[in-house]
Amino acid sequence: MEKKTLKKATFITVEGLEGSGKSSVVNFLANFLKEKKFTVKVFRDPGSTDIGEKIRALLLDKKNKKMSKYTELLLYLAARAQLIEEKLKGAFKNYDFVICDRFFDSTIVYQGYALGLGKLAKKAVEMFLQGIRPDLTIVLITDPQAGLKRIRKKDRIESRPLSFHDRLKNGYLKLAEKEPARIKVIDANTNLDAIFDCVKKILCKKFI
Ligand code: TMP
Repeated sequence: MEKKTLKKATFITVEGLEGSGKSSVVNFLANFLKEKKFTVKVFRDPGSTDIGEKIRALLLDKKNKKMSKYTELLLYLAARAQLIEEKLKGAFKNYDFVICDRFFDSTIVYQGYALGLGKLAKKAVEMFLQGIRPDLTIVLITDPQAGLKRIRKKDRIESRPLSFHDRLKNGYLKLAEKEPARIKVIDANTNLDAIFDCVKKILCKKFI
C-alpha cells in the first residue's frame, strides 16, 4: 500500500468478543499503517479522555453490582460523547487513519442485543454519534468460552454468564450481515499471525 494524501482520516474500528485478541489487532493495524508512512492515531472506547477513563473504571468495576442496564447504557454514551468532542473530531482533521478499539457497534451488541435494550439502545446511540460512522469495522469472533478462558482477572462485563457472551457472538454476526460493506468478520479461533494476515488483506482490498 502506497502513502496517499487523504482529505479526512479513514476511520477504522476494531470490535470483538472478550479474549479475542482485539488489542493485538489494534496494535498490529497501527504499526502496519505507520510502516506505510501514514499518520495514525489510536483511541479506545470507553476511554482515551480523563473523563472517559473515569467512566470506564466505573463501568468495569466488579463492585458496581447494582448498576442498572440504563445507567450502563448512559455511561457508555457519555464516555463516547466525551471522546468524540475532545479527541475524535480533531483527530479526523489531523491524521490519515484514526483507529478506535471498540465504538458504537459495541453498544448496539452489548447493551442493545445482549442486555435486551434493543431499539432504545440504537436510538440513544444515534442521538450522540453526530453522524460519525467508521469506514471499516473489523469484528473478531472467537468461541466465547475459549475467549473467556484466556482472561485471568475478569471485569464486571467479562464476568457475565456464558449465555450473555453467546448473545454477543450472535449480535455481531447479525450486524455484519446487515452491513457487509463496512463490517468484516475475522475468525479469531486461529493464531495471531493468521488473524494479522486477514487484517492485512482486508486493508489492502479496501484502501488501495
Ligand atoms: P475492552 O475495551 O477492554 O474490551 O473493555 C470494554 C468493555 O466494555 C468490554 O467488555 C465491552 C464493553 N462495552 C460495552 O458493553 N458497551 C460499549 O458501548 C462499549 C464501547 C464497550
